[in-house]
Amino acid sequence: MNKAIPKYTGEGFFKRNAAFFTDSLNFTMRNLKEVGDFYYSNMMMRNYYITSNPEAIHHVLVTNHRNYIKSPAYQQLKMVIGNGLVTSEGEFWRKQRRLVQPAFYKKQLVELYNVMQEEVQAYETGLRNRIQKEGTVDLSVEMTKITADIVCRTLFTSDNSSDQQTLYQAIGAAQEFVVFCMQNPHLVPLTYINGKRRKFYKNKAFLDQTIYALIEERRKSKQDIPDLLGMLMNVEDADTGEVMSNQQLRDEVMTMYIAGQETSANALSWTLYLLAKHPEVLEKMRAEVQLVLGNNRTPAFQELMRLQYTRQVLEESMRLYPPVWSMGRENLEADNIIGYDIPKGSIIFISNYTLQRDPKYWEDPEKFDPDRFHLERLKPLFRQHYLPFGAGPRMCIGKHFAMMEMQLILSVLVNNFNFELIQDQEIIPQALVTLKPKFGIKMKLKSLVSVPA
Ligand code: HEM
Repeated sequence: MNKAIPKYTGEGFFKRNAAFFTDSLNFTMRNLKEVGDFYYSNMMMRNYYITSNPEAIHHVLVTNHRNYIKSPAYQQLKMVIGNGLVTSEGEFWRKQRRLVQPAFYKKQLVELYNVMQEEVQAYETGLRNRIQKEGTVDLSVEMTKITADIVCRTLFTSDNSSDQQTLYQAIGAAQEFVVFCMQNPHLVPLTYINGKRRKFYKNKAFLDQTIYALIEERRKSKQDIPDLLGMLMNVEDADTGEVMSNQQLRDEVMTMYIAGQETSANALSWTLYLLAKHPEVLEKMRAEVQLVLGNNRTPAFQELMRLQYTRQVLEESMRLYPPVWSMGRENLEADNIIGYDIPKGSIIFISNYTLQRDPKYWEDPEKFDPDRFHLERLKPLFRQHYLPFGAGPRMCIGKHFAMMEMQLILSVLVNNFNFELIQDQEIIPQALVTLKPKFGIKMKLKSLVSVPA
């Protein structure tokens, strides 16, 4: 069956491209009303099919996933993360996924959780000392700091904080260059003459050198360290007995860092913002946290299950502000998606941000209401309408890692501080690789625990 596909040709080529690439969230939300949830448009001289239709998304990510590879935008990421899980394809990806998966089994997560607890306790003490009784902070800077500390410790147990600091600055700078190239393809030639590219390669060389040195050191010491690097070094292919090469290890470690740090930092920043705007939700969540924690500073791993409402708060926050707000695919062969013929080599642009705010599936979609995620209220098809971690075989491998990290950080912050938004600041989402608060989120934090004089 072939239906005539709705087309979006409005605004002329240049304006349309600018609107799509620089203001994607409003572009897709507006077109959901005016054009629909599946339509064609020509972007950067390529056939784009833009969708927030759950059946179309399910077809691309799940039912016919073998016909799809990641869209060309992901190629730019390869400059930093090489051929790791996010960017690899086909048989190589399948083998890597099989090898890496055990590092995220529950037994390993428990080990990583112990390290996370230590980091969060140290962070909370540091934050309390920094602000004393009360103080103003930019929460997106704070959440970047704690998630970067956690990712460094859980990846390589590096507890030398000056190493950690330089590593994380170099990763940030390299990532910034890649995002610039993704967002401004027309300015890429300029980077060869304005020094940006040279600086990028310098950072990349430093990163490679540091990570390869860590791997070498580990191989020599033969110590069995239960961090992600150690776990990845220990895995063997069940069929061939092969282990990962240094380059594969480097690529996967960089991939975990890039895929796992900024996403969690943004989810936490948006969640704290929503909590500050909804004191009744904050109070309900704090009551749950106090009940579960009692006199303890952090929840134990087994207690995370009891932080049900905290989980709902995070889930609802990622519905409104999904850190990974879109996913792109390219089809290897011609296809038919929900009745529309799609020529080979098209780009399917999936807007999960728009799907998660579509009134067809969400009652009063703009409202922040964590009770939607109460287990008894969830509708059977909600998994197709809610995709913060993607779907199908390429679904996020770090989903449980991220959820336990975020439940831990959030519960400790809510147990120890009150949050008040600073007035007259502009808080708007900016859709880069992840969905971040464009100008940060400034808040006054007040310690709920008395600080020793
Ligand atoms: C709130 C936090 C996170 C969110 C919202 C998130 C979201 C996502 C999404 C939507 C995808 C699928 C992308 C696509 O299909 O195009 C993905 C893939 C991935 N994520 Fe996450 N992620 C988070 C945290 C993490 C963490 C903590 C790690 C690792 C420690 C991680 C590692 C990965 C990897 C390796 C992939 C690629 C999987 C594959 O293709 O096999 N993520 N993530």
